[in-house]
Amino acid sequence: MAEEVTGPRKVGLRDIARMKRDGQKLVVVTAYDVLFARLVDAAGVDVVLVGDSLGNVVAGFETTLPVTVEQMIYHAQAVRRGVKRALLVVDMPFLSYQSSREAAILNCGRVLKETEADAVKVEGGGPEMIDTISVLTRIGIPIVAHLGFTPQSVRTIGMRVQGRAAVDATRMVEQAKSLEEAGAFALVLELIPAELAARITEAVTIPTIGIGAGPGCDGQVLVLPDLLGLNDGFAPRFLKRYADLATAVREAVGRFGNEVRSGEYPDAEHSN
Ligand code: KIV
Repeated sequence: MAEEVTGPRKVGLRDIARMKRDGQKLVVVTAYDVLFARLVDAAGVDVVLVGDSLGNVVAGFETTLPVTVEQMIYHAQAVRRGVKRALLVVDMPFLSYQSSREAAILNCGRVLKETEADAVKVEGGGPEMIDTISVLTRIGIPIVAHLGFTPQSVRTIGMRVQGRAAVDATRMVEQAKSLEEAGAFALVLELIPAELAARITEAVTIPTIGIGAGPGCDGQVLVLPDLLGLNDGFAPRFLKRYADLATAVREAVGRFGNEVRSGEYPDAEHSN
């Protein structure tokens, strides 16, 4: 007898494609641990991304460059334990897929196998990346692509809006089309003019997911600690904070400290 399916239905690649066709916006956030993974999944996001932004927001590095495959796997395994419904995507870190097709296959495949994620994300749209993505998708590795400001190239492109010049914008539209042709099922657009993001979104049939790319994308992604107001120092124009958890944490821990010092905590109610 078939087992009764209980609980929410899992989001799959077909749902993501259908959402674009139906004009339904995709909601994407990052997560790096099981606690927040459970919370964002319960909040009903469509996609959870274990971003290599963990290099910045979890480890405190200035860039994402030092992040390793092992670190991505460790965090993604924790997130996997908390995500039951959303599609789970894991970022491939710097130098894990750029050096050769073989490296890309082995590292992307390893991440999928060891984390049980649904897909991986890679940055860039040059000819080598298009080639790599078509190899990866042909062997069954679902790929999210990433254009615009690609943080792993920060040393060469700087952290600034990309695609302002007409020639760069045209190149990016062509790259987006090639990434779709190579088999990517979604495309992150980071820090590009809103008009260009809307143009790319029109030009491809796969969903675009914007961050600092305006309202014309098929979905939006934010880095969770930024969205929650945990990262007070970071305030780019595109960022909207939906909570002030930094203040909440400081106040809660401050109150705990005061009560420990005064002897108010633990009281009888909180003692065995
Ligand atoms: O690493 C990350 O969190 C990302 C998002 C900003 C899209 O790539």
